[in-house]
Amino acid sequence: MNYLPAFAMLLSIAFFLNSLLYLKDDNRYKDVMKRYVVTDKYAEEKSLCSLHPENLHGYESLNRSVYNLKVLQSTYNFMDQGHYRPVTCIPRQKVAILIPYRDRDKGLLTLLNNVLPRIHRQQIEFGIYVVEQIGGELFNKGVLFNAAFKYAMAEYTYDCVVLHDVDIISEDDRNFFTCGYHPRHLAVKVEQFNYTIPYADFFGGISNMPPNIFEQINGFSNQYEDWGLEDDDLYRRLTVAHGLKIERPLANVSTCASVHHSRPHKHDKKGKLLDRCNIYINRPRGWAFDGLSTSQYIVEKTENKRLFKHILISLNTTKLRKDFVTRSRFEDYDSLPPVASWNGNTEMCYLALKLSNKKIDQSVEDLVQKSVNVPSHRRICIP
Ligand SMILES: *[C@@H]1O[C@H](CO)[C@@H](O)[C@H](O)[C@H]1NC(C)=O
Ligand SMILES: *[C@@H]1O[C@H](CO)[C@@H](O)[C@H](O)[C@H]1NC(C)=O
Ligand SMILES: *[C@@H]1O[C@H](CO)[C@@H](O)[C@H](O)[C@H]1NC(C)=O
Ligand SMILES: *[C@@H]1O[C@H](CO)[C@@H](O)[C@H](O)[C@H]1NC(C)=O
Repeated sequence: MNYLPAFAMLLSIAFFLNSLLYLKDDNRYKDVMKRYVVTDKYAEEKSLCSLHPENLHGYESLNRSVYNLKVLQSTYNFMDQGHYRPVTCIPRQKVAILIPYRDRDKGLLTLLNNVLPRIHRQQIEFGIYVVEQIGGELFNKGVLFNAAFKYAMAEYTYDCVVLHDVDIISEDDRNFFTCGYHPRHLAVKVEQFNYTIPYADFFGGISNMPPNIFEQINGFSNQYEDWGLEDDDLYRRLTVAHGLKIERPLANVSTCASVHHSRPHKHDKKGKLLDRCNIYINRPRGWAFDGLSTSQYIVEKTENKRLFKHILISLNTTKLRKDFVTRSRFEDYDSLPPVASWNGNTEMCYLALKLSNKKIDQSVEDLVQKSVNVPSHRRICIP
């Protein structure tokens, strides 16, 4: 019986160690929560944020004055490492805002100065991810979106992902960034298209969807270099390939301004338009083997700035294209169901390829044959 005191001592040591552990855990928890919760008492009283916050301003034309990052950081000091979480209520959604970027500082500064106050009033929790392409390759928005998506999802459990061009900015805080059940297209009345939609199936500018849908459609194609058609390809992945419906906000809340560039991108680099058209028209099943799952890039550097997370990536277009061509043979491309769809850009590409005597995928030819009234009156948007 003389080992009883030793046993009791062991037991008390165990208790002591255990309580130390709890203490440590508790501190860690407090550390995490510190920036989100004012006091515990306050937290207990919190309820869900309103679906219709009272302090929305409605339409306000774009503030086009450009302020440097320093000024914006002190103006929007509610931001912490590119993240914001409402303090007085429990946010309904956590939204990741992905912004591909290169050489558009004026656009980015204007975006931050206009978007931050609007979504702050929307009482959502959000993280801002600016993904910048460095290196000499042509801009590839699809790869940038895929990279930003993976980065954001690895960092936090988001309910919603917003795909946001740097130069199209909502002018109305009633155009909510939160996701619905269906994918949403938010940039409906866009200044650069004379405040109309350029064609009925336009999905560019600003859109959003729950992360599981982005994964289901295999994200963006990695094949579109330079500007244009990657968003039509995304639209085709959503609607034709996966039968999803697209929602749009009411026209009276969906006005978006365009930021005018002092250094416009050179469109139509020799052969690039035809190249993009060729992928769009002749690889309509590409979603199955080209996208989020096969995206290749190098994360060169990441930095948490106050207003956004900055992710710098580089990519190798030649390699992406080589793998695409190899895989489209390997995956027995022709046995996959075709997913051709018709919109203003299909028409533009169809005509451009026809004019240069290039191949046209049979599914698109069928579509043209079947449509008694090919909507030739639709405005063509040269990307
Ligand atoms: C434009 O933005 C700046 C910086 O946030 C702000 O100080 C200024 O009042 C804004 N101008 C207008 C007309 O809202
Ligand atoms: C833009 O819209 C206005 C009003 O609807 C119209 O008068 C004008 O002609 C349009 N401009 C262009 C370039 O389409
Ligand atoms: C938008 O327009 C619809 C239909 O015209 C109207 O019912 C609604 O009240 C308007 N909403 C706003 C926010 O103005
Ligand atoms: C890009 O990929 C191609 C094909 O795989 C390769 O030959 C080339 O060396 C790569 N370029 C760079 C800069 O890594």
